[in-house]
Amino acid sequence: MRTPYLAGISITVLCVLIAILVYDASSSDMHASFDPIENQRHERDHNDAHSSAHISTSDAQDTKQAAFSDQKIFPIPHSPEIDHELAKIGWALFKDPNLSSNRSVSCESCHSLQTNGAEVIPVSIGVNGAGMRNSLTVFNTVFNYRFFWDGRVNNLADQIDGPVHNVDEMDSNWELITNYVSQSDDYINMFQAEQLPIETASIKLALIEFMQGLTTPDAPFDQYLRGDINALSDAAQRGWETFQDEGCIRCHQGTNIGGGMVMRFGYFGLSKTGSERSEDQGRFMFTAQPQDKHLFRVASLRNVAITAPYFHDGQTATLEEAIKIMGESQLGKTFEDQTISDIKTFLETLTGDRPQMLVEFENE
Ligand code: HEC
Ligand code: HEC
Repeated sequence: MRTPYLAGISITVLCVLIAILVYDASSSDMHASFDPIENQRHERDHNDAHSSAHISTSDAQDTKQAAFSDQKIFPIPHSPEIDHELAKIGWALFKDPNLSSNRSVSCESCHSLQTNGAEVIPVSIGVNGAGMRNSLTVFNTVFNYRFFWDGRVNNLADQIDGPVHNVDEMDSNWELITNYVSQSDDYINMFQAEQLPIETASIKLALIEFMQGLTTPDAPFDQYLRGDINALSDAAQRGWETFQDEGCIRCHQGTNIGGGMVMRFGYFGLSKTGSERSEDQGRFMFTAQPQDKHLFRVASLRNVAITAPYFHDGQTATLEEAIKIMGESQLGKTFEDQTISDIKTFLETLTGDRPQMLVEFENE
């Protein structure tokens, strides 16, 4: 039953790989000005391609015909190809607090499916109390090439071990989870219907399939990229120009307008940069290499207007303030209020529709 589906995936994976090669070649001119760390994004292994594997042919054509030929940002593809039954198991698991060690915290506790796939508090609270980082949204995460704030993981499958094992989050492990799932009649029926054995791999598969469906297409900016010039107001178009001219786009690019590379937070050492704002040392905490201090993943700007508070520590409350900080710390520029307002208006056009799959699940 899954064979045509797999064949479809292989073809799209191939297309995506070709697209990545072309895209990398066209963006190589930007490598001169920043830390060599960004070259690491060329290491993307084949596993990464699975993340974007669901782009359909018609969407690839859409992208080709889009308004800009030297485009660095791509619209979110329409209708991801999802195995709905498998994703539905993932949905049940995602909402199930029994997956955590004290049976009180589900994935959804920190990644709200009703709102933006994240949460509104600065840092997450797990089974053992407060953690250190702002929860990332699970919406559109499938288009990232790096996962977590420090980009320590390269694909969604490895990512999933993170929250499960993190003592601040769920403090659980796959053995406990698999035991629990294999004793639940509901899950037994659901996995049987999909002809999948109840084991860790199947549970991860279901969670990943679910997250693949959490995309928010058709933001005004996507409509603009597909050729509808009127989808952006004049102010938003000015903001988009500024975003390109001032250099935001050198780091924030790709389908997720970020999520692809790891960069230093605080190139220009001004106020509230990575080193001054928190104890969090970013990638260094994972590699222990001094040159990795304060390296963080370039945040995705998809739905950024509705995912306050900002930055890894969630210590910045407003989008205006976040834009101001980016100008100072990443570009060494102090923006006029008008410029900040234009960029903000542009960023607001990155808010897409709530994932259609969730709406369908809730109505079934
Ligand atoms: C206690 C709160 C909490 C729980 C529970 C939790 N997460 Fe997270 N999640 C976070 C935080 C905080 C981050 C960012 C961590 C970091 O960058 O170090 C995150 C990051 C992620 C990311 C990475 C997104 C990206 O683009 O890099 C994904 C995907 C994710 N979580 C999925 C899940 C799934 C699936 C579960 C359940 C198995 C889960 N989370 C449970 C708080 C939580
Ligand atoms: C040199 C690379 C670089 C440039 C240039 C850059 N950014 Fe960023 N941006 C980052 C990184 C890295 C982060 C994540 C920082 C963190 O929280 O650790 C980020 C985070 C953000 C966030 C916060 C997102 C969130 O969800 O918390 C916003 C908003 C943002 N950038 C907007 C901009 C704008 C607007 C510009 C241009 C004025 C810009 N950035 C220029 C690298 C860059």
